[in-house]
Amino acid sequence: MAIPATQREHVADRDRMNIVIAGHVDHGKSTIIGRLLADTHSLPEGKLEQVKALCARTAKPFEYAFLLDALKDEQAQGITIDAARVFFKTPARDYIIIDAPGHIEFLKNMITGAARAEAALLVIDANEGVMENSRRHGYMMSMLGIAQVAVLVNKMDLVDYSQAHFARLESEYRGFLDRVGVRPSVFIPVAGRGGDNIAGPSTRLAWYRGPTVLDTLDAFPSPRAQENQPFRMPVQDVYKFTGRGDDRRIVSGTVESGRARVGDDVVFYPSGKRSTIGSIEGFNRAPAAEISAGEAVGFTLREQIYVSRGELAAVGDEKRPHLSSRLKVSLFWLGRRPLVRSKPYVLKIGTARATVHVEAIHRVIDASDLSAADGRDRVERHEVAECTLACNRAVAFDVGDAVAATSRFVIVDDYEISGGGIVREALPDRQDSARERVLLREYKWEPSFIAPERRAARTAPRPIRSSAVSRRGRTNWLTGSSSATSRARVRAAWAAERSPHASSASAR
Ligand code: GTP
Ligand code: MG
Repeated sequence: MAIPATQREHVADRDRMNIVIAGHVDHGKSTIIGRLLADTHSLPEGKLEQVKALCARTAKPFEYAFLLDALKDEQAQGITIDAARVFFKTPARDYIIIDAPGHIEFLKNMITGAARAEAALLVIDANEGVMENSRRHGYMMSMLGIAQVAVLVNKMDLVDYSQAHFARLESEYRGFLDRVGVRPSVFIPVAGRGGDNIAGPSTRLAWYRGPTVLDTLDAFPSPRAQENQPFRMPVQDVYKFTGRGDDRRIVSGTVESGRARVGDDVVFYPSGKRSTIGSIEGFNRAPAAEISAGEAVGFTLREQIYVSRGELAAVGDEKRPHLSSRLKVSLFWLGRRPLVRSKPYVLKIGTARATVHVEAIHRVIDASDLSAADGRDRVERHEVAECTLACNRAVAFDVGDAVAATSRFVIVDDYEISGGGIVREALPDRQDSARERVLLREYKWEPSFIAPERRAARTAPRPIRSSAVSRRGRTNWLTGSSSATSRARVRAAWAAERSPHASSASAR
């Protein structure tokens, strides 16, 4: 994957941060983004005037939110917008703002989409106050492990920029968020439409001395902080090169946390296979010595091992991810049909998938008023639940907020993402001890406590007459396809071993 010199110039070493903007319908999310783009001069030349003129011609009042629609085909101009993502820059760093139109889209973006949020802006309308979705979205932040949150109290013009009104709302919403474990760094009074406290301070809100929205974005601690966590990269794909003399296999994915260098020992979970990073390669970058959180990359391995999509790569001497088929989780359910115990679902975590059942529903919580119920046998739409999930095989994951991206999961019901949440705990399963031994065996020989002579004597089917035939331990190395041919070879090997006249017992 050689990179043309022209492309290398684009590989700037700038910080990039994904921010999700959430809130109740019509509370002003799109307006705030539109205003942020306009006030930071991120719009293409003449765009604002063009949209304003179009509104005037069609006798439609101008909305900053229209800018987002108008920008959808502006990729060539250096600003790109797709269904839910807006790209913009400040001198400090690059941002992707995810404006999710609904819960499901929000959830999909957070867990399976290319964009994952490291921080969130929660918008509430000062006039309407804290609504159901303000609470639900707050709860989702907590369940998705998004610790960095700022609250924008929008439409302050509708409440006469009142400090007392703002203080009441702040106290009410802070109280709710606190109960679900979300602690916003700041509450900002804003007016998206008027641009108050968006990219610059507002004289109408002179009583407020805190940061603007723009200051707040730049003040969120860098996602690079995640580089200090253990290395995690869910394997997206393995590319095999077949060109002349090029037999590289590149293991690719997005680094969710930590860093890894050429020469580092990597272990893939749940298989436990190990190798060493040979080289780091990428489509849009020069070969590098190191990869870190947020980068979509690939690496080659020094010793070839068979790994495939769904494994989770970690660095050998760092904290291991958990492995289990039983997971204690907090999840929110958005499916049209309730989550029930008897039905198989698909669990997606990282790039892995497994069939999953709900083993137990411990508690069901109403996400908007936090009332809880025990002893329920189903989870209805919009409810949050603490459950135990049982998968048909072990999966690799982290727990709680340790590495948020690899502890988040979604549940698919009949091809539709219907719920998601965060793993709180890895529960023991029946394979626990066996798995541990298998993982060790992958890289360490374990001596047996039984001497070869004793084993031979014990397993001998009859008194040994000829010293040429004894049940000594041996390894029969069988290669080829895992089909009937291999089974035939095994039988041949056994037959040869039983016969004292066999010249060779090894399979070819
Ligand atoms: P959805 O995407 O539909 O959930 O809405 P949204 O949250 O993106 O809200 P949007 O930005 O579309 O704004 C909804 C309405 O609120 C629009 O008519 C805006 O003009 C209006 N609005 C947004 N900000 C302000 C503000 O600061 N003051 C006033 N008075 N109205 C505002
Ligand atoms: Mg909108």
